[in-house]
Amino acid sequence: MEKTSLPKEAWGSRLGLILAMAGNAVGLGNFLRFPVQAVQNGGGAFIIPYLVCFLLLGIPLLFIEWSSGRYGGKFGNHSTPFILDSMGKRAVWKYIGVFGIFTNIGVVAYYTYIESWSFSYVLHALMGTFEGMSQSDVALFFEEYISLGSSTLGIPLEPLIFYILVLFINIYILSKGLGGIEKVAKIGMPLLILFGILLAVTAYRMGDSGRSAEFPDANAWDGFDFLWTPQFDSLTNPKVWLAAAGQIFFTLSVGMGTIQCYAAYLNSKDDIALNSVSAGFMNEFVEVVLGSAIVIPIAAGYLGIDWVLENAGFGMAFQTMPFLFQQWGEVFAAIAGVSWFGLLFFAGITSSLAMGTPWMGFMRDEFGWGKKRGAYSFGLLALIMGLPTVLFYQQGVFEEYDYWAGTVSLVVFALMESILFAWVFGINKGWSEITTGADIKVPQVYKFIIKYITPLLLLMVFLGALITPEGNDWAGNIQSLFSGQGWNLDPSSIIEKLYHSDIKIQLAASKSQEESQILEEKIWYSNFARTLLISLFLLICLLVFYANHKRKINIQ
Ligand code: TRP
Repeated sequence: MEKTSLPKEAWGSRLGLILAMAGNAVGLGNFLRFPVQAVQNGGGAFIIPYLVCFLLLGIPLLFIEWSSGRYGGKFGNHSTPFILDSMGKRAVWKYIGVFGIFTNIGVVAYYTYIESWSFSYVLHALMGTFEGMSQSDVALFFEEYISLGSSTLGIPLEPLIFYILVLFINIYILSKGLGGIEKVAKIGMPLLILFGILLAVTAYRMGDSGRSAEFPDANAWDGFDFLWTPQFDSLTNPKVWLAAAGQIFFTLSVGMGTIQCYAAYLNSKDDIALNSVSAGFMNEFVEVVLGSAIVIPIAAGYLGIDWVLENAGFGMAFQTMPFLFQQWGEVFAAIAGVSWFGLLFFAGITSSLAMGTPWMGFMRDEFGWGKKRGAYSFGLLALIMGLPTVLFYQQGVFEEYDYWAGTVSLVVFALMESILFAWVFGINKGWSEITTGADIKVPQVYKFIIKYITPLLLLMVFLGALITPEGNDWAGNIQSLFSGQGWNLDPSSIIEKLYHSDIKIQLAASKSQEESQILEEKIWYSNFARTLLISLFLLICLLVFYANHKRKINIQ
């Protein structure tokens, strides 16, 4: 096979590996997604299910994925289709493994777009673009930016140019192989933590010093309290659990195929137990300690916690933060802006680089494609998938990718791989994979958790999302089911989403022709996005089919 003609790829050092793995996990999710999820799910009510999911889903999946990857790597497999194939005899596992390449390309398409916003916002912070702007000016600036409206740096189509530039930076680093990724992680991770600590300390010291006549109750401490006052009543609310599980997936990068790919470059006796837990805990530190201490407290310090609760969303990072930084005077505003957007950029790039590796590993293993070819072909795919998110951001292409490739697909894949690991490959073999070479003793209870609890929880999370009952009222709907009145699906359930029910409800309520037209357009674009995603999935299936065919011929 061709693969023997290419030099073997491997990690340079243990530190490099851990930082690369942590860089993969630490991403935009830690700073943009986590605070929003926490706010939308009741703050202190969110944090308990979140931590439970970390212990019962996150850690076990880290063990499963690291050891599957190292196992597959022994046979020269560096991406999930053939990693899974080496663990289970049935042909279907290779095609389930397609998820582990598909998700990465589907996500990188919109992920690099946000990365490019932070890149350009670093420049804007340096240039003092936001000086003297009112809060609504800053918000408007962002609106105009993403609608490709007027140019902000004097560059026509600025977001598009920055998107392509950032994508290119990614491809260039990827073309240098694992060494390039390690280098970026070694520079980016410490800087990111430094920037994060700087901003978090500023938030800690803010207190009520940001009060104004307009917001007399503002207090940064309310932001901290909101997250850290545990509330036990929500423990029975499945919606909060689903959100917590979803966040654990996204932030740890499990169910995506990237960890398996990185781990496939380990040596067969390398430690998994300590490495995986170190990278996982580093991610949790950045998310829970730093991620929670920036946007929400600073916004609460100026605008009050009620404002934050009403306006929580992903836009806060770009629409509100630059304005708030201005309150710190010209110089510190620039420092804070560069820290914040620089942090986002480093968080983003160490993750988007990871997303390139499964495709590159696959093309190298199966078709002998070198680093350059692998990286550029990945870039081309990312660009084809990504252009629609840039051009039709407001029509919802971005959201559609995030939902199917960045949310649903992770749970499906994690469920399948945990069944494969514990029940097909077998928990005894699996456990010995996890503990071989281990530098720490893994608590025996995890053998039980991996076998029973994790797959069961995953199944519950998946079913819960698939058939979410109307108004999230599980008790009421179970009653109605037994009294013969059937099950009413919520528009947010996967099944209803499939039929665009959420948009159709808005359509039915729309008051003007214009509004209806926008919503109808949205349906069209979300179908367009789905077509692209399905085509991508099928393309990878085809490649797997062809690769498998080639393997068979080579054996004969
Ligand atoms: N964990 C990253 C974050 O928190 C996201 C991420 C990393 C990812 N690797 C991935 C998403 C692979 C999808 C696929 O932002």
